[in-house]
Amino acid sequence: MKVFVINGPNLNMLGIREPDIYGKKTYQDLLHYIDGAAQALDVTVEYFQSNHEGDLVDMIQNAYGHADGIVINPAAYTHTSIAILDALKAVGLPAVEVHLSDVDQREDFRRVSFVRDACIGTIAGKGFDGYVEGIKLLLNHRNARE
Ligand code: DQA
Repeated sequence: MKVFVINGPNLNMLGIREPDIYGKKTYQDLLHYIDGAAQALDVTVEYFQSNHEGDLVDMIQNAYGHADGIVINPAAYTHTSIAILDALKAVGLPAVEVHLSDVDQREDFRRVSFVRDACIGTIAGKGFDGYVEGIKLLLNHRNARE
């Protein structure tokens, strides 16, 4: 199985940005962590990160025909982007919404997710493990359909 792991704005600043919320590990540490777990699960992963909404839409569209599923942390665009919701619906691939922090326990505006409607599941507040859980959800989803 091949999975696109897509990260939105400011996640390239992991380790520097608000370490009390997002931890001290970097974006590169995150990729390394996911890689280790994905190998053990026999899953191939491609990574994308952008600070720009349209680039994230492009990356989701690129998944069409190239990936079996998407793990996406749209970051702040989670709470604003109909374009990302529409892109996920357009490609029709199983997708999982992931957040490092527990978005439901923070400011009210973070409780709103536009992308959730197009996702088979949401994982929040589990740090780096959330991405691995997301991949496992995609695997279970595929196995259930076979
Ligand atoms: C985030 C939560 C969002 O509300 C925030 O805008 C982010 C990161 C998370 O991973 O916890 O940038 O998606």
